[in-house]
Amino acid sequence: MTDTAHERRSLAGQLVQAGALKTPAWRAAVESVPRELFLNPGVFLPEGGLWRPMTAVDTDSAEWTRTAYSLDTLTTQLDGHLTADQVSEPVVGLPTSSSTMPALVVSMIESLDVEDGHQVLEIGTGTGYSTALMCHRLGEDNVTTVEVDPEVATRADAALETVGYSTWTVTGDGLLGHPQRAPYDRVIATCLVKRIPYAWIRQTKPGGIILATIGSWANGSGLAKVTVNEDGTAEGRIIGKASFMQARSQAVVPVAGDLSARVAYADSERQTKVSPLMLDEWMPAFLTQLAAPGAQLVRAATSEGAQLFYLFDPERESFAEFTADGAGWRVRQGGPVALWDNVEEALTAWQGAGSPDITSVRLHVTDRCHTYWIGGQQITTRTSSHWIGDGSALRWQHRLVAHP
Ligand SMILES: C[S@@+](CC[C@H](N)C(=O)[O-])C[C@H]1O[C@@H](n2cnc3c(N)ncnc32)[C@H](O)[C@@H]1O
Repeated sequence: MTDTAHERRSLAGQLVQAGALKTPAWRAAVESVPRELFLNPGVFLPEGGLWRPMTAVDTDSAEWTRTAYSLDTLTTQLDGHLTADQVSEPVVGLPTSSSTMPALVVSMIESLDVEDGHQVLEIGTGTGYSTALMCHRLGEDNVTTVEVDPEVATRADAALETVGYSTWTVTGDGLLGHPQRAPYDRVIATCLVKRIPYAWIRQTKPGGIILATIGSWANGSGLAKVTVNEDGTAEGRIIGKASFMQARSQAVVPVAGDLSARVAYADSERQTKVSPLMLDEWMPAFLTQLAAPGAQLVRAATSEGAQLFYLFDPERESFAEFTADGAGWRVRQGGPVALWDNVEEALTAWQGAGSPDITSVRLHVTDRCHTYWIGGQQITTRTSSHWIGDGSALRWQHRLVAHP
């Protein structure tokens, strides 16, 4: 077996330089845990729109080590079942498990503010690499990790055993947490969730921290850090941008098929006040998910090559269709929810507030409701006190229906 101590030190150095790795205890973890042992049986590397399989056994050991210590996310499973040892040629597929880019893993665990003796619940074991880092820092008895995919969980468990950690690897839906080992001091999720499941709050001690990426759009999700209060609520803010694979039970089924049939009957048509192209930017995309939860952004093209641009909310059978109109855009809306009215109101208010970045978003979570807002009571200008009023375009309440 190749000794990768040099590569581990070098990875740690790069993560320090990138500002992701800050504390000596986490640096020691990165320098100690061999990432290559968590990549069995292999990885899929992106290549020309396809995924090229690479396995440890069929790859020259220097190349394998180089790949294992790259700063990229390494995809280990496609479409919920396929591993790199099962194919020999590049394939199409949707990544469903991976070893996330080390800078994101490390900056997230740094943000957890763990202390010695803390009990941590991790949702989304994946390869087990991040689990191993936490076992190194806190001890194997203080880490519980939940993975929804039984085969992924088995491989992670084996890898963790190989590096010497007999931690609590649980196979199950992490949206339910793992009450048997609760209460936890920290909960960290490395899959995307639409909202913070209340089960996590119930299973966290008062004063404990939950860190999870919220959203369902790949380039528009926010890393939420909330602290659990004595009264069973939680509050905090979005601390940055982050993107993960969606939690499996919440995976969005993309709108497909004949789009023209979906937009045949509109209730209104008008000129837009802001460009829908703004939704290609991260913060507007995040705000869109707050203002129109359930909406999907769909791009298509006519057979003549003209661009088509839509928002669809399949559950509420609502749509907004955009067409270029000179220098501006026209929108046709249909269905019970005027999606674009809601989104446009939020985007306009956000622009009026000076377009603050994603870290300006605060949230409060109860067993019934997620409330997000921008601005705060402590800000006393007229504009900001307007933001926090109910019904303001910079405050969104999402009531929960039968959700863990
Ligand atoms: C990005 S990978 C995890 C990365 C990993 N923590 C690492 O070391 O980098 C996300 C994992 O979350 C898992 N997952 C998705 N939905 C889940 C759920 N509801 N409960 C538990 N695990 C889930 C996926 O199967 C996948 O293995």
